[in-house]
Amino acid sequence: VFSAIEMAPRDPILGITEAFNADTNPNKINLGVGVYYDDNGKVPLLSCVQKAENMLIEQPAPRTYLPIEGLAAYDKAVQELVFGADSAVVQEKRAITVQALGGTGALKLGADFLKRFSPASEVYISDPSWENHRALFESAGFKVNNYAYYDPATHGVNFAGMLAALKAMPRGAIVVLHACCHNPTGADLTSQQWDQVIDAVVTAGLIPFLDMAYQGFGAGIAEDGAVVRRFAATGVPLLVSNSFSKSFSLYGERVGALSVVASSADEAARLLSQLKRVVRTNYSNPPVHGGKVVATVLATPELRQLWEEELAAMRVRIKATRDAFVQKLKEKAPGHDFEFVRQQVGMFSYSGLTKEQVAKLREQSIYAVDTGRICVAAMNSKNLDIVVDAIAKVL
Ligand code: LMR
Repeated sequence: VFSAIEMAPRDPILGITEAFNADTNPNKINLGVGVYYDDNGKVPLLSCVQKAENMLIEQPAPRTYLPIEGLAAYDKAVQELVFGADSAVVQEKRAITVQALGGTGALKLGADFLKRFSPASEVYISDPSWENHRALFESAGFKVNNYAYYDPATHGVNFAGMLAALKAMPRGAIVVLHACCHNPTGADLTSQQWDQVIDAVVTAGLIPFLDMAYQGFGAGIAEDGAVVRRFAATGVPLLVSNSFSKSFSLYGERVGALSVVASSADEAARLLSQLKRVVRTNYSNPPVHGGKVVATVLATPELRQLWEEELAAMRVRIKATRDAFVQKLKEKAPGHDFEFVRQQVGMFSYSGLTKEQVAKLREQSIYAVDTGRICVAAMNSKNLDIVVDAIAKVL
């Protein structure tokens, strides 16, 4: 039964980490995966997380099963973070939130749920999008199409193309939108462009699925989450996946959530009952620790304040790194314009490097995604010169 199975290709993002881990060069640099490293090249353990863990250790608790939908305190805190405690959808109990295994887990729950209740829909993702979006929705059984998004000539959004694509989608199509910090391009819509997108989605009768994996890495927690609230206010059926992997530096704890907005409290209760079946038949119920940590931080005012400060510091360091990267490239690769990197938002830069140039960087033990996506958050004051010299060489 197994003899004819072929070798699967490496994952386009996590496969790079595998190659990086296998590289014996002590000066290797991983600009592939979307992980925030501090200026010493370390994944930070946030103080708010350590303090919450200390609080949890002081109240040792047995590790019983969580409810299928996750820790109630976590689901409540996340829902209020995503939609606002005083929003109509929360007040009217029209939103449901279930704990999920990171943002990926939340997307998969949403995809499986939609496949059960809107099986004929097709899915539309941005061109380009996070590599796993296509694979994930296809594995749930959907046909996945692209909509126009990135314009390589301007390094920005091809907004006319995007809007035309939205307007041409069939009613009931599922459109995956990046709420902020577009992955991989770092090119986000303006507030006025979002107005037009929301209008097009509502008018065309599409099902928006907002993916928010980088809240707080763009302009701020509230600013980055604003589009979710604007969509929720329209009253259309809405799905939102969010992740705390990056914003809490809790990658390996797999903490995320799926929220769904229904048209009434009664409909929401029915949706939740069905979503619980999706969870139960996949992994039964989520793990305890990460959810408790995030719920504790979000519900404890001093820790929440600390989290907001620590997240702001990560955001500020990335912005400063963008500036330093552009400045150094200007010196070391004159004739190549990288100014656009300053306009990009979030952890990534869609650098414009070709697949061949990325392969040449790899020969120097610098790892990036084949599409030219580099993780700005993996650069620091110690490795920036090495990265810039290597890029100047391959250019
Ligand atoms: C990324 O895009 O690098 C991150 O979202 C990590 C992942 O799972 O791909």
